[in-house]
Amino acid sequence: MGDLRQDYVRYNKGARTLHWAIAVLVIANLATGLLHDPLEPYVRLMPFHKATGMTILALSVVRIVWRAMWQRPPYPPGISRNAILSARVVQAAFYALMIVMPVTGWILASAGKYPLDWFGLFELPKLPVVRHSAAYSIGHEMHEILGWLFLALVVLHVAAALRHHFLLREPILRRMM
Ligand code: HEM
Ligand code: HEM
Repeated sequence: MGDLRQDYVRYNKGARTLHWAIAVLVIANLATGLLHDPLEPYVRLMPFHKATGMTILALSVVRIVWRAMWQRPPYPPGISRNAILSARVVQAAFYALMIVMPVTGWILASAGKYPLDWFGLFELPKLPVVRHSAAYSIGHEMHEILGWLFLALVVLHVAAALRHHFLLREPILRRMM
């Protein structure tokens, strides 16, 4: 149905830049989060994980404020209602996860003994959280469970983007390029 040559409208430059910057950082943080334990004897990934995660938080706040200022470009004709609905659900979940994952991580890191610095350049403030508290236990559970949810939704989101591009030949990926 779709035709890659037909006209399509792209997301604005700010939206595209923030999308790809955050995408790279989130994929990196899912990897360092899941691998820090097994790779512990060889490399300390946690300082990098925390600094990248705090960067994701800052960029996501900017992104959500920016997102409130424009309408998404209209979908090309021929995209099913179900596809649009599922895209909406996954994308809304992403905006929530882009805030909740770093904030729960920040809670965990605040209860730890290490200072919270940003790539060794400056120190970030810690939240008033201690190890044996409800905030810490809940934060820990959420960070772990939502991390897996995030990973699953990224797989779905990428599979959908590639399916619309290569199989259905609809200009969906191009809207974000
Ligand atoms: C979008 C951003 C983030 C993602 C996707 C993410 C993802 C993950 C994942 C998948 C794990 C492994 C969970 C487990 O197996 O227990 C993890 C662990 C951890 N993350 Fe994050 N994280 C993010 C942000 C942060 C931030 C901002 C901090 C701190 C400032 C942080 C601190 C931690 C800590 C301390 C652990 C180890 C928890 C433990 O095993 O005790 N994370 N993260
Ligand atoms: C891994 C972390 C990623 C996150 C958190 C993420 C998040 C998002 C969000 C929130 C939107 C909705 C934008 C809006 O309308 O407000 C979006 C759209 C989009 N993303 Fe991602 N994305 C990620 C990775 C990727 C990757 C790797 C690809 C390509 C393979 C991709 C392709 C797209 C496309 C094509 C759209 C537009 C979809 C549409 O028009 O409905 N994303 N993404």
